Amino acid sequence: MTQSSSMPAILQAVMKGQPRALLDEHYPRWHHAPVTGLMNDPNGFVWFSGRWHLFYQWNPLTPDHKYKCWGHWSSADLLHWRHEPLALMPSQDYDRNGCYSGSAVDNQGRLTLCYTGNVKFDDGGRTAWQCLAVENERGEFDKIGPVLALPEGYTGHVRDPKVWQHNGRWYMVLGAQDKDKRGKVLLFSSPDLHVWDSEGEIAGNGINGLTDAGYMWECPDLFELGGRHVLICCPQGIAREPERFLNVYPAACLIGDFDYSTASFRHGELNELDAGFEFYAPQTAQAPDGRRLLVGWMGVPDGEEMLQPTLANGWIHQMTCLRELTLQNGKLYQRPIAELAALREEEQFWQGIAGEAPSLDALRLELLVDICGSLDMDFGGALKLSVNEQGVTLQRRSLASGEWLSRYWKGTVSSLQILCDSSSVEIFINQGEGVMSNRYFPQHPSRVCFNGASEVTLRYWSLRSAMVE
Ligand code: FRU
Repeated sequence: MTQSSSMPAILQAVMKGQPRALLDEHYPRWHHAPVTGLMNDPNGFVWFSGRWHLFYQWNPLTPDHKYKCWGHWSSADLLHWRHEPLALMPSQDYDRNGCYSGSAVDNQGRLTLCYTGNVKFDDGGRTAWQCLAVENERGEFDKIGPVLALPEGYTGHVRDPKVWQHNGRWYMVLGAQDKDKRGKVLLFSSPDLHVWDSEGEIAGNGINGLTDAGYMWECPDLFELGGRHVLICCPQGIAREPERFLNVYPAACLIGDFDYSTASFRHGELNELDAGFEFYAPQTAQAPDGRRLLVGWMGVPDGEEMLQPTLANGWIHQMTCLRELTLQNGKLYQRPIAELAALREEEQFWQGIAGEAPSLDALRLELLVDICGSLDMDFGGALKLSVNEQGVTLQRRSLASGEWLSRYWKGTVSSLQILCDSSSVEIFINQGEGVMSNRYFPQHPSRVCFNGASEVTLRYWSLRSAMVE
């Protein structure tokens, strides 16, 4: 489809789809979700000229992965968001099978998108072009075209450019698969975003002591944090362990030190970024005050996504809440951004034996729990959380088989910060030392109930809705 021929169909899909999505009891009240169709990765998260921009992988036509545009929201304060014109849709030979994930940068005052043009061939092969598009006065994006072809030595799976500037030079990391089917992160550099030099592989399967680390690494993001460097990536093909890496694909991070002069990254072990049921393809941006913020897709591809009940209403998936990243004692911490406190209504307080605590309305809820001992919580009968000396266990039924599935976070738990929306529960453990992000589909009104003999202290708020306008 060309740009002009797909527009009427997109408009019709949105007109028909939005009312159904917004009436769905599972449609989020304060998280980002598509007004119809399928949304996956956050893209182009950036602070530009006094506003935040958050783009997203979006198929407005049907709730599946067949057609990929870039949707676009913007905000001055990370709380009130507005819809912006659709930014990218497949229209050229070089992006005909999808405007895949990427990032946004401020290039001398022009908001510039760096994305992957995905091309599939009839014989099952594929290629990928790294492309640019620049914002015009109407808030639309003019495609500049490809600036990087498939590098030598890799299959057609090379994508998801994350671009940033360092000491006057542009850098780009790409997710890739080499010809031996090993997942890699490639680094390129450029004086102008148009001409790119290869700086080699900086991480991946077979590099820096990592073995059996998957066949494809997607959505890399490399940034400085607390005097060190963090590489976020989504390695596909990591073996499941009894209590880790249980999702179809994980989002993971490597902490280490990156040396620009040698383009080398020395790092420690590969750890999951989030131990919950749904979290993938996160992207970070730097705030003007220096904070490193992250947003992720609260979904996982190729798992049970196509069994989620919201498909009946023509939409699927949502983003996580926005989070601030910090490095503490060499570990990556994630906390909800401070701005979210503005959604809180009146504060409530309760202290006593867990089993005697009042049940709470889970529709829009923030809950802080201080615990010493064990605790069980039930979210609308559809998600169960238990805390004991070993850590946190979450349980939810498989949408396919109905059997109970578990996810784990190991460590001593002293506090939980829990953020609930109509079909999601995000659990921050010990001020962000661990996170578990999950979708769940309870019948509303859904209530959070407590059980157990330990003493708990609860502070909680009902949250205001924050719909995109
Ligand atoms: C991750 C991903 C990216 C790709 C995009 C396509 O979820 O597979 O690698 O660019 O989704 O929508």
